[in-house]
Amino acid sequence: VVVVVDFGGQYNQLIARRVRENHVYCEVYPYHKAVSKIKELQPQGIIFTGGPASVYEEKAPKIEEEVFQLGIPVLGLCYGMQFMAQTLGGEVEQADMREFGKTAISVNTASPLFKGLQEQETVWMSHTDYVAKIPVDFEIIAHTENCPVAAMQNKAKKLYAMQYHPEVLHTEHGKEMLHNFLFEICGCTGSWTMANYAKTAIDTIRKTIGTGNVVLALSGGVDSSVAAALISKAVGSQLTCIFVDHGLLRKNEGDEVETAFKNSGMKFIRVDASDRFLGKLKGVSEPERKRKIIGEEFIRVFEEEGRKIGTVDYLAQGTIYPDVIESGAGDAAVIKSHHNVGGLPAVVDFKGLIEPLRNLFKDEVRELGAELGLPEYLVWRQPFPGPGLAIRVMGEITTEKLAVLRDADAIFREEIANAGLNRSINQYFAVLTSNRTVGVMGDFRTYDYTLALRGVTTTDFMTADWARIPYDVLDKISSRIVNEVDHINRIVYDITSKPPATIEWE
Ligand code: XMP
Repeated sequence: VVVVVDFGGQYNQLIARRVRENHVYCEVYPYHKAVSKIKELQPQGIIFTGGPASVYEEKAPKIEEEVFQLGIPVLGLCYGMQFMAQTLGGEVEQADMREFGKTAISVNTASPLFKGLQEQETVWMSHTDYVAKIPVDFEIIAHTENCPVAAMQNKAKKLYAMQYHPEVLHTEHGKEMLHNFLFEICGCTGSWTMANYAKTAIDTIRKTIGTGNVVLALSGGVDSSVAAALISKAVGSQLTCIFVDHGLLRKNEGDEVETAFKNSGMKFIRVDASDRFLGKLKGVSEPERKRKIIGEEFIRVFEEEGRKIGTVDYLAQGTIYPDVIESGAGDAAVIKSHHNVGGLPAVVDFKGLIEPLRNLFKDEVRELGAELGLPEYLVWRQPFPGPGLAIRVMGEITTEKLAVLRDADAIFREEIANAGLNRSINQYFAVLTSNRTVGVMGDFRTYDYTLALRGVTTTDFMTADWARIPYDVLDKISSRIVNEVDHINRIVYDITSKPPATIEWE
């Protein structure tokens, strides 16, 4: 394992992904927890991230100096480099001008960090502070026109640092530099695969659950399905999957999920709770309220079903890394409280939570699903939010609006599949806006709803680009929906990326 010490920079998750792309497992810890974790885990390497602070600020994030004495290789990036330099007796100063953007750099290719690279490279810089004097026993291994120490090393102590950001794609050979650190310096072998992850996770789940039983909230989406498969491998019939049909699913979805899991050998219960959910949501139009209500109601339903089963010790969920980050569990700002994290009521009737995918990104979850032998259509299912269509009907939810949205969304999905775009567009769906506009159908005036279509390409769902769906495909979708679905007389396509928009509309 490699430990990524989070100093609060914006590229922290990206660093983790880059490490994992090399089949090296890593975990991210906030700086104040890092050293105890490092001692516990005995990682093969440590990476310090960048961060917004300046090492001279009183509240600048710091970790214990002993991290440099453990004999474990350390790579400091940006703020991480400045912290290393200052702590070990070097000097950090503020430059007159910020160095920002793609920058030409001269590197010493004799350093293991730059093995196989050119003497002139292009890197991504973003800093004002810089290392003015390196600590004793260090040597400079890269510089730019404005930055005397763009990288430094103490080979004997295996301490390395870069002022620029190798994790960002604009650093042309950033991948190779990180690879060099991991393989040449830390001695990683790249043996972290989903097969190994599954093995470890299954062991851990078994130990945690013991002889207890566990109830899983199964939505039929990729995450909860993969979690179900994993937990089922660990504890077999101690697991019961509860599928709550909250009445906010897409067309035919409830039946599809039931068919897929009923015959899987797992214990599976479908609860029809649509009246209950829709009742609670009546008159509610504020998105965060909707999420909170749905999250809370979910838990109540599980508790009740759990009681019917007998003693339930654990509740399992398919929470994944981006949910954790975006719900403010890390230090990032709260954008949306995803129901399976932020919406959790304080009092829950279970001993604990089992969230075996908590540290995985979406594409890793799919890989794991394939590894566990789940059918392809489940593994490649596009993500569907826990609150379902509740956050795709803008404003107040009614059964009529849900029916309209379901039909329109089904046509959209059908045509995207017909056009062979269902793998390349990572998430696509229809949104029923609360906007009504005037139209003309035959000889009659209509005054009906505007439907919005959304399609995005993304790998991590934390950032996304709007999908360039060909005009003729959009045209076909548009005319089919207006012709086949009552109460929609206008269709728009969403052409905003995330950020500044989010993927869902609420
Ligand atoms: P946003 O809209 O935040 O969505 O850009 C990012 C991804 O998360 C899904 N999403 C949710 N998933 N509960 C969930 O389980 C939620 O409340 C929720 N809100 C958004 C969204 O579909 C997209 O894949």
